[in-house]
Amino acid sequence: MEVLAWDDSFKIEIPLIDERNQHFMKIAAKLEELNAVKRKKEEDFDSIGEALADVMEFARMHFNEEEKILVSKQYPELNQHRQDHKRFIKKVMAFRRLFSEDPGKVSDDLVEYVKEWLPLHIKEQDSRYAPFIRVQNYLADCQALGRRGRS
Ligand SMILES: [Fe+2]
Repeated sequence: MEVLAWDDSFKIEIPLIDERNQHFMKIAAKLEELNAVKRKKEEDFDSIGEALADVMEFARMHFNEEEKILVSKQYPELNQHRQDHKRFIKKVMAFRRLFSEDPGKVSDDLVEYVKEWLPLHIKEQDSRYAPFIRVQNYLADCQALGRRGRS
């Protein structure tokens, strides 16, 4: 099974988002790593639980920030994008509930889900809005230059 790792193929060429996605990948990889070496002891599941909480907290912050950018640029597929974020949060929250009841039973499925969702979301959803945002930024720059040129 492939291990989560950032490489340049995940870049969407929007520096703030690339930075966030890289960090997202790093903390998801930490979750994966802890799960891979667990010996099914309570303290192992405690650290998996903490790593999971980090992933959730970061995901909420990052999605919020990203959606604000998409709103401000009037991205036409905002709702679709937002739905994909919501699906992730909902699913991971459900896993988290099950995890608190029986961590041994769900930790592998949980990690598999995160590992599958994150690279796919970056490559199919985030990279989809990137050209649109770049064009919007370009037009805003041209407008600013035009204003400066006229004054
Ligand atoms: Fe996204």
